[in-house]
Amino acid sequence: MNKVRVNLGERTYEIFIGRGTLARLPGFIRSMGFKGPVVCIADSSVLSKTKALIRPAFAKVRNRVHWISVPGTEKSKSLKVYRETVHKISSKTKMHRPLIIALGGGVIGDLAGFVAATYRRGVPYIQIPTTLLAQVDSSIGGKVGVDLPEAKNLIGAFKQPEAVFIDIDFLKTLPVKQLYNGLAEVIKYGIIKSRSFFLFLEGNMEKLLSLNRGVLEKVILECVFIKSKIVEKDEFDDKRLRIVLNFGHTLGHAVEAAAGYTNAYNHGESVAVGMLLAGEIALRLDMLAAEDLGRIGGLIRSAGLPVRIENVSLAKIMSAYMHDKKFTGGTNRFVLPRKIGSVEVVEDIPETLIKSVLRDHAV
Ligand SMILES: NC(=O)c1ccc[n+]([C@@H]2O[C@H](COP(=O)([O-])OP(=O)(O)OC[C@H]3O[C@@H](n4cnc5c(N)ncnc54)[C@H](O)[C@@H]3O)[C@@H](O)[C@H]2O)c1
Ligand SMILES: [Zn+2]
Repeated sequence: MNKVRVNLGERTYEIFIGRGTLARLPGFIRSMGFKGPVVCIADSSVLSKTKALIRPAFAKVRNRVHWISVPGTEKSKSLKVYRETVHKISSKTKMHRPLIIALGGGVIGDLAGFVAATYRRGVPYIQIPTTLLAQVDSSIGGKVGVDLPEAKNLIGAFKQPEAVFIDIDFLKTLPVKQLYNGLAEVIKYGIIKSRSFFLFLEGNMEKLLSLNRGVLEKVILECVFIKSKIVEKDEFDDKRLRIVLNFGHTLGHAVEAAAGYTNAYNHGESVAVGMLLAGEIALRLDMLAAEDLGRIGGLIRSAGLPVRIENVSLAKIMSAYMHDKKFTGGTNRFVLPRKIGSVEVVEDIPETLIKSVLRDHAV
């Protein structure tokens, strides 16, 4: 088992990565000296599919455990589900301060984390991420929140967990589309921070897709390490360092929104296309070599992810992009690759260039 420490002063915590990490949960709660009730906010489908993994660990938790089952769909990241959840917690735990556990993908992690950040002005919580995306991305860094109809993640907080338990056995039941979803973020880390990791992915994609244990552990460890180092330097996202994690997300998000958040383009697929579009913009600005862009496209394709825009109107993508821009203070800011392993923030990319790149990548 591997461990990564996220150094954030008094909010420092550890991320446990490997097989069987869940077995450490009861001991960890004991070591916190926490005697109150535990409330596990869990993805309903994870609860039904991974009983054999969850039961033995929770059976050894000495605290009273209450379960709140929530569907793992984006609709659960809403004020409505938030309200229902806090009401359930207050009626189950009465006046006791609970320890919250988030068991599920990014949806559950964001919702449960936001509950923990706000219920009784903040209570401790633990992340147990069960999708690849949540294991390499959303469970680390303390960004929690819910959506509003006008935009995603509009209500939120920074709330670091007490610990994160990443058990790779959860990925055995994960639908393959969800695996690809997480792989887009995995590839992102290689492009933004580590050429050697990118090369490792090039050489091991098949093993990764078949959930080879050694490769999976190394990949998750590397991603967690890269993200935590960025978070350590910019915990509250106010130093313009966390922004590199948005690589591929500017146009990617526009594609995702234009596709109507349907199965046509899920988050990872949209980010995959978004990374390629950002690479193409960098190429045309003479920032990136054609060879590197070719390798980026090759790795994305080898992970089963798309590199072109299909069946989504370019006008809709542009209008989603303009809508997002409104919510980021009207700035036109892109994270663009200089080379594999290094990116730069560039402002004021001409709209004509964005449109032309979109046109050239549409089928
Ligand atoms: N807080 C952050 O820093 C951050 C970063 C990235 C993404 N996010 C958020 O994460 C969310 C997406 O998370 P996600 O991609 O994990 O999606 P998700 O939580 O919706 O899970 C995807 C699907 O997989 C199912 N599932 C989860 N674990 C499973 C398992 N082990 N076996 C079988 N099925 C399983 C879920 O029920 C769901 O149907 C978005 O809301 C996004 O905004 C947050
Ligand atoms: Zn993402």
